[in-house]
Amino acid sequence: MTEKKINIRFQEYKSLEELDEQDRLLAQEAIKAMRGSYAPYSHFNVGAAVRMSNGKTVRGANQENAAFPSGLCAERTAMFSAGAQYPDKDMESIALAGGVMGRLTQEPATPCGACRQVMAQYQAKSGKPMSVIMVGGSRIWKFGKVDDILPLIFDSI
Ligand code: THU
Repeated sequence: MTEKKINIRFQEYKSLEELDEQDRLLAQEAIKAMRGSYAPYSHFNVGAAVRMSNGKTVRGANQENAAFPSGLCAERTAMFSAGAQYPDKDMESIALAGGVMGRLTQEPATPCGACRQVMAQYQAKSGKPMSVIMVGGSRIWKFGKVDDILPLIFDSI
């Protein structure tokens, strides 16, 4: 038996100002996207923004439903919309932010497992790393590729 270890490298920023311009703009878009959240059940508002290889940004927000599984997370709302609008373009980066009553959480919003899997799919589709930016009021995390937040990605078919 050999014990193995997985190391994950990511960057922590203290504020939006510390990010480079394109990441800052995407993070700000994710915060603005929270306004589109429809969350009558959880009251947790999530916003996401995807930057495409043509420079366009596509926003998404969580959409809840009385039949719970029929709702959708902000990240998948954004990615499916981006995929449908720009099928020939790559998703270079996704940012997400969350909060209650429109107020950003202090800690970064972290994506659910299903959204990570969908990120992995679009990253594989483009063949290039998709960075993931998790925004919080007191810190921001940036992961260079989806593999960093979904080690041992399923991509066997
Ligand atoms: N939610 C997201 O939009 N993204 C995530 O990655 C995690 C959870 C939403 C789903 C639901 O509307 C609310 O947050 C509470 O789980």
